[in-house]
Amino acid sequence: MVSLVLLLLLIGIIGTLGHFGSLGHSPHLFAGLIAVVLVLLSAGSALLIDTRQPWARRIHVATNVVLFFGFIWVSLTGWSVVQKYLP
Ligand code: HEM
Ligand code: HEM
Repeated sequence: MVSLVLLLLLIGIIGTLGHFGSLGHSPHLFAGLIAVVLVLLSAGSALLIDTRQPWARRIHVATNVVLFFGFIWVSLTGWSVVQKYLP
């Protein structure tokens, strides 16, 4: 999940820079960055659950609940920028 989300971030940034020469054309940039931060938080806290940090499990579960809505958000905003490229 971490590598997939980083790959999409890279494709999004490189593709948009190559096409427009700049970033930030829509809320999709913000939604994408939020999704990546949440995934890193989720994976990072998951690694700490075994070390019996009491807050790690709470952070893992909380970031995953927010991630659910984050993925919906990045998909909807991504879908709306796709419309620009359709004939
Ligand atoms: C976690 C998943 C994703 C991440 C992290 C991500 C990240 C990004 C980023 C950072 C950009 C540059 C945006 C800008 O500077 O304005 C971008 C562009 C773009 N993304 Fe995504 N993206 C994700 C998923 C998606 C999905 C699911 C779609 C399609 C449904 C999509 C379609 C696009 C398109 C069409 C662009 C070009 C934007 C434009 O023309 O303004 N992305 N993405
Ligand atoms: C980022 C990648 C993820 C990794 C590496 C990961 C890893 C882990 C680990 C190691 C545990 C502890 C298992 C144990 O108790 O021994 C755990 C618990 C859990 N994870 Fe994840 N996870 C990931 C993403 C997710 C996602 C996306 C969801 C939700 C859709 C999720 C939901 C849960 C739940 C519900 C628990 C149990 C929490 C509890 O016992 O209170 N995880 N995860």
